[in-house]
Amino acid sequence: NPLQGAQFVLAAHRVSQLPADRGAEVAFAGRSNAGKSSALNALTGHKGLARTSKTPGRTQQMVSFSLPPYKDVPVSRAQDAQERLPLAQAEGEPSLEVRLVDLPGYGYAKVPQELREHWRQEIDRYLHQRRSLRGVVLIADIRHPLKEFDRMMLDFCFATGLPCHLLLTKADKLSRNQAAQALAAMRKSFPDGLHATAQVFSSTAGTGVDEARAAVVALLRQ
Ligand code: GTP
Ligand code: MG
Repeated sequence: NPLQGAQFVLAAHRVSQLPADRGAEVAFAGRSNAGKSSALNALTGHKGLARTSKTPGRTQQMVSFSLPPYKDVPVSRAQDAQERLPLAQAEGEPSLEVRLVDLPGYGYAKVPQELREHWRQEIDRYLHQRRSLRGVVLIADIRHPLKEFDRMMLDFCFATGLPCHLLLTKADKLSRNQAAQALAAMRKSFPDGLHATAQVFSSTAGTGVDEARAAVVALLRQ
């Protein structure tokens, strides 16, 4: 698993509190309760890494996780490291800090209006300002059409060229056929020129985990 060894770094209430803006990072975004934190745990293979909950509005901060630092790999082990860690930089390249960020869920009505407005602003700021941001993993429930937040995120990616990978999650709630149909319909609805890919996913059943890991690695390598 290229995303193993992820570690909690910090939880930020605003963008200015995030780790230094260097290296590469991928953000996990989506509506409240869509399954962002669960997806992060499934992809890193670390169950308790990001906190999950049945109650929407669980993640109330931007939570930053680092992947193992590749800079300390001795040259003699570089070859081996390349094989073990698909993200490792080639010998002699500058070190690469790699992070995954769990964003607060969007759109939960019971979160106070003031807090929702705060997160709307901070997510907006994050997307516009974060130079190390290489791409977004957008997580949406496969059983429902995309909602306003999801559309806004796709529009943003379309407008700025930021790559986006859509995980249609909770696929375990549908038959394989229904899931495939939902994916096909979703792809059809993407505007031409959008840098987005999409796949079926389930954190609980492990569906699409390998495909999603590869997609995250591809985003980090841009
Ligand atoms: P917030 O932090 O509140 O924005 O939510 P989140 O998007 O991080 O969702 P979280 O991962 O906490 O999951 C929300 C609920 O959905 C939990 O009860 C999870 O167990 C459940 N869940 C997440 N992924 C899946 C999945 O693939 N299948 C099923 N059946 N349930 C899932
Ligand atoms: Mg969460």
